[in-house]
Amino acid sequence: MRIGILGSGLMGGKLGTLFARAGHSVVFSYARSKEKLEKLARDAGGNAQAGTPREAVQDADAVLLAVHWSRMNDVLKQAGDLSDKVILTCSLPMNDANSELVVAHTSSGAEELALKIPSAKVVSAFSTLPSEVLFDVFEARSRASRPSVVYCGDDHSAKKVAAGLIHDVGFDAVDAGSLRIARYIEPFSLLIGQLAYEGVDGPELAYRFERFRH
Ligand SMILES: NC(=O)c1ccc[n+]([C@@H]2O[C@H](COP(=O)([O-])OP(=O)(O)OC[C@H]3O[C@@H](n4cnc5c(N)ncnc54)[C@H](OP(=O)(O)O)[C@@H]3O)[C@@H](O)[C@H]2O)c1
Repeated sequence: MRIGILGSGLMGGKLGTLFARAGHSVVFSYARSKEKLEKLARDAGGNAQAGTPREAVQDADAVLLAVHWSRMNDVLKQAGDLSDKVILTCSLPMNDANSELVVAHTSSGAEELALKIPSAKVVSAFSTLPSEVLFDVFEARSRASRPSVVYCGDDHSAKKVAAGLIHDVGFDAVDAGSLRIARYIEPFSLLIGQLAYEGVDGPELAYRFERFRH
């Protein structure tokens, strides 16, 4: 597939790299320097290039949205027409201090995004993963047991794309249901983040938590 990355930081940079290594064609976009995007594309070791947000989404079969909530309107504006696009979002609706969710309980970042771009097919995916675990999980993907990761969305075909990409980077994709379930997944993502960065055992504990099914 052709995958456009909107937000090439910890999540977008790593997931884009793994998508490329899994055989997809990737365009990295939206960082503060073009050089960073070009280096990511070079280092990805597959079919990857740097581009603008508009170029990233233009011919994409799937778009990964991985920006801070405060950058959402800006990146969507730069991306342009997202009609009918499959959008996987791992972006959590955090305040500027990254201390709390600004949308929760009765809605979620993913649902707000779907309201903003009703013609797109939004899937909530990857937000429960600390970026630190991504490369290790990818390296171990040929093992029989894989860590689980939940995703949700309303469009059947978009969810199929998401499940395929989740599988390609080494996880067992667990369908949690419709997009409204994102309002429960996003606070869970914060729990994982809390365990990863503030708990006693750090990312290792969060990683084991992701493996709860095994
Ligand atoms: N990190 C995690 O483990 C994790 C886990 C689950 C969910 N999430 C969610 O995923 C989303 C992305 O998180 P992240 O950790 O990947 O963030 P990040 O590393 O800060 O990446 C965000 C990207 O946006 C770019 N950006 C920021 N301001 C910009 C501007 N003014 N112009 C152009 N580009 C700009 C950054 O550019 P630079 O590269 O130049 O800084 C970076 O590439 C967030 O919503 C977060 O809540 C993160």
